[in-house]
Amino acid sequence: MIVLTSCNNNKETINTAENQTKKDSVVSEEELWIVPDTSTIPHDEFGEMVRYGRDLIVNTSFYIGPEGKVGKYLGNKMNCTNCHQDAGTKPYAFNFYSTHARYPQYRARENKILSLSDRVNNCIERPHNGKHLPLNSKEMIAMISYIKWLGEKVPVNGRVKGDGPVKLDFPDRAADPLKGELVYKRECLSCHGANGEGKMRLDNVCYEYPPLWGDKSYQSGSSVHRLIKMAPFVYANMPYKIATYENPRLTIEEAYDVVAFINNDTIHKRPQPATKNDYASLQHKPIDYDKGPYLDSFSEIQHKYGPYKEIVDYYKKIGKKANY
Ligand code: HEC
Ligand code: HEC
Repeated sequence: MIVLTSCNNNKETINTAENQTKKDSVVSEEELWIVPDTSTIPHDEFGEMVRYGRDLIVNTSFYIGPEGKVGKYLGNKMNCTNCHQDAGTKPYAFNFYSTHARYPQYRARENKILSLSDRVNNCIERPHNGKHLPLNSKEMIAMISYIKWLGEKVPVNGRVKGDGPVKLDFPDRAADPLKGELVYKRECLSCHGANGEGKMRLDNVCYEYPPLWGDKSYQSGSSVHRLIKMAPFVYANMPYKIATYENPRLTIEEAYDVVAFINNDTIHKRPQPATKNDYASLQHKPIDYDKGPYLDSFSEIQHKYGPYKEIVDYYKKIGKKANY
């Protein structure tokens, strides 16, 4: 294990691929993590950065979008909060509860250890199809300050209830994009549009309903392009303001099917990543990544759509853990 001093002079341990899962500790099994109230943001220099950071997560496109007020970094007009809902504070919605506590961290996609700022830049590059923010920019420091403030009470390398995906059993069958199209028309189209284009806000700054495919949407190299990442998010959070993790609107199969439809690259085009070197280390490659090679002999199509249980069982049999 490597120990280093981070920019804020706290000692942090680096999560390597090997110690990452072992070291994760569950703080509370019973209750959802309680997010600190914004009224507790301090009234000092740090607090000001925290407030600006929160504003950037919510109004990302206004500040750093294609026509951004302080810089042009994003390639589309999505806001971080479109995915990291309620400014990264909503349970089971890609929140930032334990994020600061878990970085720096080994990342399989790049096959190296990334700082939290590098990880933010990943999202600027992939889902936002943009170019990296300078690490020492006020905007980067503000976003990191906000994420730090949000998770300040989480112990280093800790995990808290509600911070990951809602736990769903894998469907027994492969996800079906054709069935997913019917779910889409029934439950999603009214907001996200017949062509997945979403709906721009009247002031043209960002979206009322963000896009799900097309050239203004996330890249195919984003985490949300992977079925096992995206389906639990949709299950617990969509349709927006109708579904909750406690009262989902879709069945698990419907959530998998509709994401299979959205992320079907044959019918839906989206920006492509600049690099072809993702997941160079095959033993760390997620099983729902849709491009081979893999350590196993399941087809690309099974990796993209499932069924996943067979793949997970195979890895168990050879004494390895399937990544996803
Ligand atoms: C299209 C959806 C989408 C958008 C937009 C997006 N992200 Fe992400 N982001 C994700 C997903 C999915 C993950 C992976 C979450 C996981 O693995 O549980 C992620 C992960 C992260 C992480 C690491 C979280 C952790 O706990 O490991 C950070 C930090 C992050 N995003 C910051 C940002 C910031 C800042 C923005 C805006 C500039 C942004 N993201 C925009 C989807 C998105
Ligand atoms: C009532 C309108 C509405 C409906 C219906 C709806 N959504 Fe959304 N969706 C939203 C809004 C609004 C956001 C952004 C949330 C935010 O910024 O807080 C969003 C965000 C998303 C995102 C993450 C951002 C992105 O663009 O990639 C995904 C994925 C998504 N919705 C999928 C779906 C799916 C799948 C369905 C159908 C099962 C659905 N939504 C139904 C309004 C809706």
